[in-house]
Amino acid sequence: LNQSLFKNSNEPPVVFHWFPVIGSTVTYGMDPPRFFKENREKYGDVFTFVLLGRKTTVCVGPAGNDFILNGKIRDVNAEEIYTVLTTPVFGKDVVYDCPNSKLMEQKKFMKIALTTEAFRQYVPIISDEVTSYFKRTAAFKGQSGEVDIPPKMAEITIFTASHALQGKAIRDQFDESLAALYHDLDMGFSPINFSLHWAPLPWNNRRDHAQRTVAKLYMDTIKRRRAGGEKDAQDMMFHLMNSTYKNGVQVPDHEIAHMMIALLMAGQHSSSSTSSWIMLRLAARPDIMEELYQEQVRELGPDLPPLQYEDLAKLPLHGAIIKETLRLNAPIHSIMRAVKQPLAIPGTKYVIPTSHVLMSAPGVSASDPNFFPNPEVWDPHRWEKDSTNAPTMAARVVDEADEEKIDYGYGLVSKGGKSPYLPFGAGRHRCIGEQFANVQLQTIVAEVVRLFKFRNIDGSNDVIGTDYQSLFSRPLEPARIHWERRDQS
Ligand code: HEM
Repeated sequence: LNQSLFKNSNEPPVVFHWFPVIGSTVTYGMDPPRFFKENREKYGDVFTFVLLGRKTTVCVGPAGNDFILNGKIRDVNAEEIYTVLTTPVFGKDVVYDCPNSKLMEQKKFMKIALTTEAFRQYVPIISDEVTSYFKRTAAFKGQSGEVDIPPKMAEITIFTASHALQGKAIRDQFDESLAALYHDLDMGFSPINFSLHWAPLPWNNRRDHAQRTVAKLYMDTIKRRRAGGEKDAQDMMFHLMNSTYKNGVQVPDHEIAHMMIALLMAGQHSSSSTSSWIMLRLAARPDIMEELYQEQVRELGPDLPPLQYEDLAKLPLHGAIIKETLRLNAPIHSIMRAVKQPLAIPGTKYVIPTSHVLMSAPGVSASDPNFFPNPEVWDPHRWEKDSTNAPTMAARVVDEADEEKIDYGYGLVSKGGKSPYLPFGAGRHRCIGEQFANVQLQTIVAEVVRLFKFRNIDGSNDVIGTDYQSLFSRPLEPARIHWERRDQS
């Protein structure tokens, strides 16, 4: 039973398991971060485990993150892994249903639309969405109450993101039919679809119907807008409508529609999970919620004027809340790549064959005590730069790693080669939504802090566990908190 007897000596150690195909699927799936931590202690920074019959090689630590995420296009490939899940949901010819060079151009178009000018318009839109949500939602009627917060944050995320990125006309449809269609699209992201994406299962039929209906809605909107002869809109759709690939071909309408779906889906899960975690962290630490309120009073004035984009930079603790929450609760815990040719891992004797899948888990270094003292403690103050005590290391480590920039075809991005903190990934597949997510999350947090005081129902500082069942991790539900209006009038 000594499994190491059967392994090729150039391959990394294999995590012990009893059953051939199941391998470590169950222990990994129940709690990926714990699985990574325990096996790193046993086997080191590089090890292999069996996930649904595939040998999956994990490389952790800054060197492992860099090796996988900044891998060369001839060595590693994302679309081969993701396309079975994403193409039925997004639609054809975008993201992973096209060569990587085309994705790089698409990311450039999307990124160019996310300008400071656009963010200036988004902040008041997001602020209004948040305040009107709390006014009209039954769960927040009265002076105080209890609420299961994640479903509420999911709604706030979709209303704010769709209004900012897709305009008011599309946003208004989210009150009715569109939300249900997006829910059906979402079912396409169940992990079970990695193996059953093709099956005529009820949720796959609903997914396909939803994809066609949503894409048609966007395409009809595009046609109407083209016919209307609009000239100077700032939104993402308008920008894509006026983008041309390097080969001179204008981005076709169906690709614009599919990119709009992809953007909303990419942002929805990660931002909604993150905003839920932030609210739960604040309920566990009412003292920090109070510090946030005081930061706004101090920096913006006691009458708290309507939020502007420029205000966000004046609120470093609001920024730190997001950074620290993503350090411990990053929604994407595993990033996968196919191996295109046998790959030697620098500094080791290991060579990874093409039959393996590579897995990056930047969350491992983000909770490593060598980079973040007392890593399990959620402490937004560790990101403050001007104190002299040890925790400022966090900011230093990340800033240093940020220095090296690289252009993969969608503008300069930080390579993050040495960084232990990569909640937005690195390399050619790095997130283009980071600034948007920060603007969205900071604005939501600032508005919530103006309106409410949160605490845990039992008054404790505890935080609920994580649900790893879907591809994006999120708080276990129900996750109920106690809220109280700040303004008692
Ligand atoms: C890629 C995280 C919000 C759009 C990624 C990746 C990560 C990530 C880790 C890399 C995936 C990989 O390498 O396989 C996050 C987090 C977010 C967030 C933590 C919020 C807290 C958003 C938003 C948008 C967005 C709001 C859209 C407006 C994208 C896109 C990619 C991406 C288009 C590129 C995928 C690729 O090139 O393969 N994100 N994201 N993300 N994200 Fe985000």
